[in-house]
Amino acid sequence: MTNSATPEAVQLWSVRRTYGSGDNAVTALDGVTLAFPTGTFTAVMGPSGSGKSTLLHCAAGLDRPTDGTVVVAGTDLGPLSEHALTLLRRDGVGFVFQSFNLVSALTAEQNVALPLRLAGRRPDRARVLAGLAEVGLADRAGHRPSELSGGQQQRVAIARALVTRPAVLFADEPTGALDTVTSHEVLALLRGTVDRHGQTVIMVTHDPAAAGYADRVVFLADGRVVDVVSGLDAEAVATRMARLEATAARPSPAGTGAPRRRPDGPGGSAPADGSGPAAPVDARREA
Ligand SMILES: Nc1ncnc2c1ncn2[C@@H]1O[C@H](COP(=O)(O)OP(=O)(O)O)[C@@H](O)[C@H]1O
Ligand SMILES: [Mg+2]
Repeated sequence: MTNSATPEAVQLWSVRRTYGSGDNAVTALDGVTLAFPTGTFTAVMGPSGSGKSTLLHCAAGLDRPTDGTVVVAGTDLGPLSEHALTLLRRDGVGFVFQSFNLVSALTAEQNVALPLRLAGRRPDRARVLAGLAEVGLADRAGHRPSELSGGQQQRVAIARALVTRPAVLFADEPTGALDTVTSHEVLALLRGTVDRHGQTVIMVTHDPAAAGYADRVVFLADGRVVDVVSGLDAEAVATRMARLEATAARPSPAGTGAPRRRPDGPGGSAPADGSGPAAPVDARREA
C-alpha cells in the first residue's frame, strides 16, 4: 500500500476536525494545509489544546477529519474503508507514545515482533533482532518492560514502530516521560533513522531542545498553522513558544465553538489539478 518513493510522505489539505456539535462544538483543527517531505524530521509544537495530537491522529489515519484531505504515501485516506484504514495503520505508519505502550507480559523481542504477528506474518527473527540492535538493545531481547529503564522501553517502542518499515513514524511527546539525558538518546535515535534510512518522522513535542533535532518546526495555535520554521535553535524555539502560550492564555473566541465552514468548491477532493488550496507548506522550498 505504501510507496516510500513518494516525495511527500504525508499531505494535509484544508484539514478540519470538529468535536461535538452545536454550542459544545470544538474546532480542534481549523483548516490545516501542510506537507511532510519523505526523509525529513518535523517537530509539531504549540500550546496545550492547539490541536497537535489531533493533527497527528488525522495524519496517521487514527482519526478521520471532518473536512479536508489526508494523503499518506500517495494514498488519499478519505475514500478508504475501515478495513483499508486498519491495514494502513498496521503497515503504513508507526506510532510512538509518551507512555511507551509496551505489552508488559512480552519480552522486548516479542513486543517488536508484535506488529508482524498481528499482520498474520511469521516474524523473521533476524529482522526483529536487527531492529533491536538498531536501537542499541541487542542484549535486552529477552527482557520484559519492567526490567528496562524508561529510555530503553521507549527505544523498544521505536523498534516496534519501525519493524513494518512504515512510510511515516509518528511520535506524540515521545520524551515527555523521560529525563533530559535519556530524552536526548531517544531524539538522537529518531534523528538517526532519518539520516541513515531516510525515515520520515513527525513528532509532537513541547520541549524546545527536542525541536532542535528536527529539520523544521511547525507551530500550531488554535488549530491553525501559525509558522513553519527551519534552523531555529532551542532558545529561539522557546521564545516563539512563550509568545504563543501568552496569546493562547488570553480569552479568545477563536478555536472554541467556532462554526465549521464547508468549503464551497471541490475542497473535499485532492487538489492535484491546482484548483484546490495553495500548495502545502514545505520547508525545503521556503529557504
Ligand atoms: N475526543 C475529543 N472530544 C472532544 N474534544 C476534543 C477531543 N480531542 C481533542 N479535543 C479538543 O480539541 C482541542 C485540541 O486537542 P488536542 O489535539 O489534544 O491538543 P494538543 O495535543 O495540542 O494539546 C482541545 O480543545 C481538546 O479539548
Ligand atoms: Mg496532545
